[in-house]
Amino acid sequence: MKVLVTGGAGYIGSHTCVQLLDAGHQAVVVDNLCNSSEEAVRRVESIASASLPFHKVDIRDNDGLAKVFDQYDFDSVIHFAGLKAVGESVAKSLMYYQNNIQGTLTLCDVMAANNVHNLVFSSSATVYGDPATVPIKEDFPLSATNPYGRSKLMVEEILRDLHVSEPAWNIALLRYFNPVGAHASGTIGEDPSDIPNNLMPFISQVAVGKLEKLSVFGNDYPTPDGTGVRDYIHVDDLANGHLKALERLQAQPGVVTYNLGTGNGYSVLDMLKAFEQETGKSVAYEIVARRPGDIATCYADASLAKKELGWQATRNVEDMVRDAWKWQSQNPNGYR
Ligand code: NAD
Ligand code: UD1
Repeated sequence: MKVLVTGGAGYIGSHTCVQLLDAGHQAVVVDNLCNSSEEAVRRVESIASASLPFHKVDIRDNDGLAKVFDQYDFDSVIHFAGLKAVGESVAKSLMYYQNNIQGTLTLCDVMAANNVHNLVFSSSATVYGDPATVPIKEDFPLSATNPYGRSKLMVEEILRDLHVSEPAWNIALLRYFNPVGAHASGTIGEDPSDIPNNLMPFISQVAVGKLEKLSVFGNDYPTPDGTGVRDYIHVDDLANGHLKALERLQAQPGVVTYNLGTGNGYSVLDMLKAFEQETGKSVAYEIVARRPGDIATCYADASLAKKELGWQATRNVEDMVRDAWKWQSQNPNGYR
């Protein structure tokens, strides 16, 4: 298959490109590098021993995208490009809506003009809001509490409408739980440009000495140890879900929606202890107040993806923390 990967220089996109190339597909990346480095693309080429053409294009740039489509005969698009920081989305909501929604609309226009109708979209477990029960199934009620989450929800709705008006479209909405870890080589990984918002990169940066200590956001949640529980999933398992989704789109299913998680919940302190045990590094932490907007517990029912995609996560928490540390310790300053 010939696959356009938007946001392919980013964290999840780069890992997915490795697997596309390893599986013998041709991949092409467009990315504006607003949260990534072209170095990631070069490293993907080196891991996969294959070429990965890169175009520095903003997905809101219709002409720029059209030129890329002119050069290749794409079968499908995997659409990772977007902004993802919840706090920033509250402060800069227009920027988030323009990037995540306008960007997707422009991409769909250019796809339609080129007769490409297979699309895999990066959604998020954030579209479930604060779920009434766990594990979370795909048919649970949807809601959002911040512009980032709303942008994901709105794009999901736009894409469902698109299929109703133009049934030729085949669209997979993939709702990621909490991606962590890195490629086993330690040469590509998550590279936050600022102080990390998310737990695992924060833990790794404390361990490598870049940050002093982890703030654990609350220990009074109704969970076994009082800290928040999440469904952490190894980024390479997540990446593999995209290949399975691409295969599924070949069967022309219309719009399909899948949770990509492990189905297991781990607390903040579980992750911290697993990291310390696996790496032998100690991680200083203190308990602080809850982070506004956080929920107590979130984990997937991932059985639909297993049934319909033949996909399930195979890597455990030890793999996740070991690979996160390998990347962080080999690249203390990320790609810089
Ligand atoms: P990332 O920031 O590492 O990757 C996104 C990439 O998109 C970056 O390389 C960035 O430069 C690029 N990009 C952003 N806006 C662009 C634009 N207008 N034009 C072209 N390129 C643009 O993030 P990630 O963690 O790899 O996330 C990928 C996708 O998955 C995002 O849509 C994100 O919202 C979604 N997602 C991520 C998580 C997570 O925890 N990482 C969870 C759920 C969903
Ligand atoms: C966050 C986003 C969510 C997004 C997801 C993936 C918020 C409120 N939610 O989810 O919309 O889809 O990332 O990008 O930002 N924690 C600490 N200390 C830290 C960081 C995190 O204790 O420094 C705790 C959190 O309270 C939570 C857990 O670790 O219980 C995981 O946090 P995080 O990695 O930020 O992911 P989510 O909050 O699940």
